[in-house]
Amino acid sequence: MRIHVLEDYQELSHKAASFVASQIILRPHSVLGLATGSTPRGLYSHLIQMEDLDFRGVQTFNLDEYLGLERDHPHSYYYYMQEHLFRHINISRAGIHIPPGQPDDLEQACREYDRAITAAGGIDLQILGIGHNGHIGFNEPASRLKTATHVVDLSPTTIEANSRFFSSPEEVPRRAISMGLGSIMRARKILLLASGGDKAEIVARTVGGEITTRVPASLLQLHQEVIIMVDKEAGSQLPRGQDGSE
Ligand code: GLP
Repeated sequence: MRIHVLEDYQELSHKAASFVASQIILRPHSVLGLATGSTPRGLYSHLIQMEDLDFRGVQTFNLDEYLGLERDHPHSYYYYMQEHLFRHINISRAGIHIPPGQPDDLEQACREYDRAITAAGGIDLQILGIGHNGHIGFNEPASRLKTATHVVDLSPTTIEANSRFFSSPEEVPRRAISMGLGSIMRARKILLLASGGDKAEIVARTVGGEITTRVPASLLQLHQEVIIMVDKEAGSQLPRGQDGSE
């Protein structure tokens, strides 16, 4: 794992955007795994500002989607991605993949999503945020983790954390569809972003704690090519020598 501790959220977003842009420039047909949540918003906004960056050959696969929300619901991840990235860049519609929030057949939708990832040649660069409980995508802490795309019952802490985007916790969907740990771990490179003091403990456990399905992000310690970018607050509990400060 390579860890970069940046001064603040602005710097973190800027550095992450440069990293993603280099990937696209070096490999114009890159397959990107994309995350939602508040953390990658700055990264997306920097990418949008890079007017020469050409997304025409890029394919994207989002990590997850709430189940039960219409695509155009303002809290669906489909809507989020349109608003924060896709409608501002020259990516082709055919290159965009987001798990469906209202599929007729859930099992079939999961299998089709995995087949599409495989058909694209797998993910070159997976962008990840992290939940306070160590979830990545919507892979919640559990005694066993799923490798393929699957349906998830969201944990009470995730519902609570994500209720800040809704008018009340009751409105947060209880279930989601999420890429599995297998697809994430098969990505050739992984870029995990975290910002703010409330993520400090889980960042430290992800980087240096026990590797356990109870902290899904800790499995990233087993991956060859993980880059972690955090701001000072999120990096504040990293042991000395592990904080790679810049
Ligand atoms: C959600 C998403 C995750 C995201 C996490 C953290 O639950 N499914 O992909 O990483 O929240 O979100 P935030 O960046 O807002 O803290």
